[in-house]
Amino acid sequence: MPVTAAPDLQAIIDRIAEEMAGQADRGKVADYIPGLARVDPKHFGISIATHDGKMYSAGDAAMPFSIQSVSKVFALTIALGKVGDSLWQRVGREPSGNAFNSIVQLEAEHGIPRNPFINAGAIVVADVILAGHQPKEAIGEILRFVRQIAGDDGIMIDDEVAKGEAETGFRNAALANYMRSFGNIHHPVEQVLGVYFHQCALTMTCEQLARAGRYLMLEGQHPDTGFNVISPMRARRINALMMLCGHYDGSGEFAFRVGIPGKSGVGGGIMLIVPGIASIAVWSPGLNDRGNSTLGSLALERLAVATGWSVF
Ligand code: DON
Repeated sequence: MPVTAAPDLQAIIDRIAEEMAGQADRGKVADYIPGLARVDPKHFGISIATHDGKMYSAGDAAMPFSIQSVSKVFALTIALGKVGDSLWQRVGREPSGNAFNSIVQLEAEHGIPRNPFINAGAIVVADVILAGHQPKEAIGEILRFVRQIAGDDGIMIDDEVAKGEAETGFRNAALANYMRSFGNIHHPVEQVLGVYFHQCALTMTCEQLARAGRYLMLEGQHPDTGFNVISPMRARRINALMMLCGHYDGSGEFAFRVGIPGKSGVGGGIMLIVPGIASIAVWSPGLNDRGNSTLGSLALERLAVATGWSVF
């Protein structure tokens, strides 16, 4: 179906939000990060920022949630801005086919993570952002970047979530130490993890997240300033990585069902980019067995059908 902007987006997402409210199977809220375990699985929100500057929202779109791994897209953008394509000597660009926190491929692959969206890859990206900074400055840089692309200075980091994650992040510590043994982490592991945990603890609403994704819909251009956040080629490549790796070992299934590049997080958020058309954020905290939002995925599948949006 040709990609066209649907005229009745508000009606479509109102209907989807209503359908989601009636869903019995909402998945399971992530409980390995203390701050996330308390979130009510009943929530569902969706926002769409379109290429012509409009915003459509339904459900709990104004409620802040922990964006978790969706932040890996923004961190990757910053790291590429710092070191360019040399980043790819330290991180791969292939789907892992394994869980987001898996360690198994690192041994045979010499400490080079498969892609920047699995935890190991994102920890290397955090190490790149940390270069030349104190951890607090690196965290500040990430926060400033996200506020700038969203055009919203109200975006915050939830220190409690970051702290809870530091206290329970034994796997991430294992990944970082293991990669350091191969020379692929250059800074002290506690500092790198501090940056990574704070980036994951960014708290945003669906509206803020949909706004933050707009540069990826617009070939790298910031819609509010007209300046390029990144080049068109880089925006396309980040979208390509989201398509192939954005949902970990559920990426094939998500591409099959939705057909649009997206990035998920264990907070239940998904950012979805329809190139040239829309930047979308959906949030529902219950997760499927791959760690991706159950209702978020279902809602986006229905949205793709209703609008005819697809990159294929
Ligand atoms: O490192 C972690 O486990 C979390 N901060 C982020 C994981 C995440 O969101 C994976 N996404 N589905």
